[in-house]
Amino acid sequence: MYLLLTLSLALSISFSFSNSVSACLPYDFLIANPSPTLWQGFSGSMGYTTMKTPSLNKGLGFTYSERDALGLRGLLPPAKLTLEDQVELTMQELRRKSSALDKYVFLQSLQDVNSTLYYAVLSRHTYECMPFVYTPVVGEACQKFSQLYRHTPQGLYLSIDDRGKLRSILDNWPVQDIRAIVFTDGERILGLGDQGIDGMGIPVGKLALYTACAGVHPSHCLPVALDVGTNTQDKLDDPFYIGLKRRRLTGREYDAFVAEFIEAAVDKYGKSVMLQFEDFGNSNAFRLLHHWQEKVCCFNDDIQGTAAVALAGVLGSTALTGTAVEDHRFLFFGAGEAGAGIAELIAYAIHVETGKPVEECRKQVFMLDSKGLVCKSRLHELQHHKINFAHDTEHVADLLSAVKTLKPTALVGVSTLPKSFNQAVIEEMSANNERPIIFALSNPTSKAECTPEEAYRWSNGAAVFASGSPFEPVTFNGKTYVPGQGNNAYIFPGVGLAAVACGATRITDLDMYIAAKALAEAVPKDRLDASCVYPHLRDIRDVSLKVAVAIAANKYATGQASVLPKPVDLEAHIRSVMYEPSY
Ligand code: NAI
Repeated sequence: MYLLLTLSLALSISFSFSNSVSACLPYDFLIANPSPTLWQGFSGSMGYTTMKTPSLNKGLGFTYSERDALGLRGLLPPAKLTLEDQVELTMQELRRKSSALDKYVFLQSLQDVNSTLYYAVLSRHTYECMPFVYTPVVGEACQKFSQLYRHTPQGLYLSIDDRGKLRSILDNWPVQDIRAIVFTDGERILGLGDQGIDGMGIPVGKLALYTACAGVHPSHCLPVALDVGTNTQDKLDDPFYIGLKRRRLTGREYDAFVAEFIEAAVDKYGKSVMLQFEDFGNSNAFRLLHHWQEKVCCFNDDIQGTAAVALAGVLGSTALTGTAVEDHRFLFFGAGEAGAGIAELIAYAIHVETGKPVEECRKQVFMLDSKGLVCKSRLHELQHHKINFAHDTEHVADLLSAVKTLKPTALVGVSTLPKSFNQAVIEEMSANNERPIIFALSNPTSKAECTPEEAYRWSNGAAVFASGSPFEPVTFNGKTYVPGQGNNAYIFPGVGLAAVACGATRITDLDMYIAAKALAEAVPKDRLDASCVYPHLRDIRDVSLKVAVAIAANKYATGQASVLPKPVDLEAHIRSVMYEPSY
């Protein structure tokens, strides 16, 4: 009887492991590699290797019968805790850490030891933990990534020295059933510039949010850093920098390397593997997206995810302004990746709503960059992604003049220029509009074009405000306003969940528009009453589910789903694939 129980428990653990993770246990590796120096004296006990495997380890959460069956007696103290007890203890420990970076390191270390507990903490306390897994702390973590390197694989590091071998290197990752990949070349990490291989912190953090915010199973996720060198001299001079010490690869060789990776991923994981471009520099991001979006299942969160979040804010604002997206006149301050992405998706949304050609719809969208208004007379000097918005308009040099002459109904700040939405600009917007839209999306907080308090004060409470970074509610003239945060986490986890749940073969502009619409529809009345155009981040899992259901429905409607036949109840199907950490 005892033997049977032992066997069935051991089998169930190795089965659930091999089922979800389909990999070799370290145990098997040790048996196959009896190197006297490495493993001298190692007995290969099942209990020990189980506890050393993060996806199997439960710490004090192992039941007494599991302890008997797996040979864990003596390796654990007598106490037994539930997963919920462990989550509570972990949160207490997290709250005791004084620095934000310590909290980041603490959570990452937990992932190395007990991944079920890590995801349980993130899923149950997403709102509180998000800043320590992703922005803003992940920025500092990337800057110090080489010093913080943890000696355990968090994802794949693929360097240009591996050219020609990428497909076989993918086999080295212990999990074979990968469905979502976030990959970066580290050139433009948040607002911090070129971090080289240290940019790996971003794919790791983003994928943690795929799981925490949308329940994408962590074993299906793979973070990838493409190491093509770095142009950041500090990194090249740092003796402890963990990436290649050479300047960035460019041109055809660069494109070929990215292509080798994407083709290897599709070959190994299938045509529905979702590839998210992350933090690529402007000179590559648009070109790569345009080249690959018709060929594989991919999207760029900095361009398209940001665009969908901002569009959702505009769509949500209709309930407050009474103005539909097609009746707005937009002025963008900043014409980089975020600005161009949002502008294109807004034009696309107007096209969907009105049936007008996209080229016509773009005429409602104007952009300013560091040299003033993007317009026809500047065509010769404009980067490719701005050309669609170079209208036949007189050039003006500064923002206030542009607001005065163009009379926009919506002002979107993606310039990284703090305080650029000054009193004169916001008063001019308010003079022209009953309820002006003022989105100050630049991050971090210190770079916001204005604060919500300024927007409400200078517009006499009329502004419909949103920001890129979180701000506290503001009370003005006796009314409390909640500034909405256009956080990309409202969109990309839901996109990932949809792609995984229906086996999407493409992600299109229509999907992004649909995601934005689903997000706008998820804003509850009490938030709108406080002039807020986004739902509460505490409700992120429900929001992600709504976004995922909307996209998946479109994938089936357009023949771009490979999980067939279409589930009768799509929402129930998507719910059923959402990962819920448990023992
Ligand atoms: P980027 O570097 O690609 O673009 C910045 C743009 O601002 C460039 O077009 C530049 O010419 C323009 N600019 C700089 N100085 C200017 C000036 N003095 N006057 C007018 N324009 C000026 O950066 P990207 O990726 O477009 O991001 C811009 C900002 O948006 C960042 O702060 C970023 O954090 C934020 N962002 C916010 C998101 C959100 O709220 N969900 C998502 C993505 C980005």
